[in-house]
Amino acid sequence: MVSSRFNMAAPLSNFSPQTGEACQRKTGSFKAAPKDHKKKKKQKPKPITEVRVDRSVISKLHVLNKELDAVRSDQSLSRGTKQARVSQLETEIQKIGGLDAYQAASKRGACCHGNTTTSNWVIKQLKKFKVKPATEEKKLRLLDVGALDNHYQRNSWLDCTAIDLNPQTDSVIKADFFDFQVVEGCEYDIVVLSLVINFVGDPKKRGDMLRHCCQLTKENGHLFVVLPLPCLSNSRYLTHKLFCDMLDSLGFQKLCSHDSKRLSFFMFQRIGKRKSKSFPKQVVRKGPSHNNFSIIV
Ligand SMILES: C[S@@+](CC[C@H](N)C(=O)[O-])C[C@H]1O[C@@H](n2cnc3c(N)ncnc32)[C@H](O)[C@@H]1O
Repeated sequence: MVSSRFNMAAPLSNFSPQTGEACQRKTGSFKAAPKDHKKKKKQKPKPITEVRVDRSVISKLHVLNKELDAVRSDQSLSRGTKQARVSQLETEIQKIGGLDAYQAASKRGACCHGNTTTSNWVIKQLKKFKVKPATEEKKLRLLDVGALDNHYQRNSWLDCTAIDLNPQTDSVIKADFFDFQVVEGCEYDIVVLSLVINFVGDPKKRGDMLRHCCQLTKENGHLFVVLPLPCLSNSRYLTHKLFCDMLDSLGFQKLCSHDSKRLSFFMFQRIGKRKSKSFPKQVVRKGPSHNNFSIIV
């Protein structure tokens, strides 16, 4: 049986829209109406805007992905039950429009992030930390994972490879990051994972994703990671510091970070040796109002 944590009947408001993780909402205590005789304005119901629909699609897909990963890795399920459950979940995903709808919603969402888009931030830091070469003789090789578009094409000093499970344009290559390999000596100068780790449902696979960055990033190369802010600022299992400690254990030293209203941006450099340190799932914030986003390394 699949745990009730993933009960699809649970109202969407019980899930954090950005992390897709269950969280208990604080409910306001009931107060008696004031005994004045002024007529109260009737509150109009909020219009269901495109933004709210988009958030709902993103949130639902995160939840379904999480459940899909949980079912796939559940050893206690028989083959038949597993197949039936997987196909049921895949149908649910198709019902909300599948990856296409999710990507379209993400693309529209990115427009709401103002000037702090990932590519703007990445370019700014590469200039600030003098990673950008003085001449364009040798371009820096950049791998953009989970790319909705090739945002780095316009930077002539970058040679960008953009990959995605479900490319939306010809400038993005269809590839699964987990299967993406490079021959020794051809590692990338820069690897960017923007809002991809939180797309993966299984906390162990999220850790595998970070681990795989070690194989793809050159020594002294740079890794950029962007996560929804609540994954770190309001998770029961993760904080900014813990996330940086995980990366440090994989040989990535933090150079800088930035929190916008919705996102957390990080720039790391691969300079350290990998340490055999593990980070199991442990509660770091107590209380009912946190989400369950976690990464296991
Ligand atoms: C929320 S979108 C992020 C898009 C963009 N990077 C951004 O910051 O706006 C997540 C994307 O990651 C892609 N993705 C998820 N897992 C992936 C994997 N294992 N390999 C390649 N792409 C992946 C999804 O297909 C999706 O397009």
